[in-house]
Amino acid sequence: MPDYQLRDKVVIVTGASRGIGEAAARFFAECGSRVVLAARTESDLVRVAEDIEAAGGTATAVRTDVADAAEVDHLVEETLRIYGRLDAAFNNAGGGHMPKPLAELSEDDFDASVRGNMRSTFLCMRREIQAMSNNGGGAIVNMSSSAGIQAAPRMGAYCAAKHGVIGLTRAAALDYGGENIRVNAVAPGPILTHRLQQIPEETRASMMRAIPLKRLGDPGDVARTVAWLCSAGANFITGAVIPIDGGKTIANA
Ligand SMILES: NC(=O)c1ccc[n+]([C@@H]2O[C@H](COP(=O)([O-])OP(=O)(O)OC[C@H]3O[C@@H](n4cnc5c(N)ncnc54)[C@H](O)[C@@H]3O)[C@@H](O)[C@H]2O)c1
Repeated sequence: MPDYQLRDKVVIVTGASRGIGEAAARFFAECGSRVVLAARTESDLVRVAEDIEAAGGTATAVRTDVADAAEVDHLVEETLRIYGRLDAAFNNAGGGHMPKPLAELSEDDFDASVRGNMRSTFLCMRREIQAMSNNGGGAIVNMSSSAGIQAAPRMGAYCAAKHGVIGLTRAAALDYGGENIRVNAVAPGPILTHRLQQIPEETRASMMRAIPLKRLGDPGDVARTVAWLCSAGANFITGAVIPIDGGKTIANA
């Protein structure tokens, strides 16, 4: 078992039905944490939760649209009802839009990006912080992106929303350090989840060439960093933005 000293911690992971969130939920469970999985598709969530339990872990699936305040309240209330506390949260759910130059983005593209990436992070943090302050502190990790640190071509709305996630992260870190709540963000570069699996092989190869470590990330790369940020090993780190990108952002800076 990985020794991140996360045994029995109660951890919410949003967007846990697939991709990075699924990998993180499985990794926290391998570390002995009790995991609450949130996403919109209940059947996929239940499948992941059942797999975790079959492997000897503890997991609960709570269907949640993280852009809906009432559903986020329900997620945290269910966590407290079932496990009595909240120690850590990975606000990972989100996603991009079809690539388009900025002036071709519709209002719907823009609103969906802000709602699904930034508003959702705000709603989750707001409720998680309340729960954590009642039990002496905790750790939150928000999902930004390399597009939250630098510009990404034809991804204006996503880029703005992921920059916004970093602003929210830093503001919350400042507001709640005194309550022993640490708030950090991760900024992955290209990670091999279903989106990147769909693009042509030659595009993936050229992406790899632009990365100093010469490979794409895998969801486990992100999961391990997030677990570490939630662990005592990172207990003097707050308001940080950790690139997980094989050096991509320094190479392009
Ligand atoms: N894959 C990458 O290369 C990459 C790079 C940087 C950042 N990210 C970010 O990482 C996160 C996960 O990416 P992924 O590649 O695993 O994506 P994915 O599409 O495989 O998984 C996204 C997950 O989020 C859930 N989700 C989306 N909107 C939701 C909502 N409103 N309410 C509840 N659940 C919702 C989905 O159901 C799914 O479980 C996203 O925020 C994405 O922007 C991904």
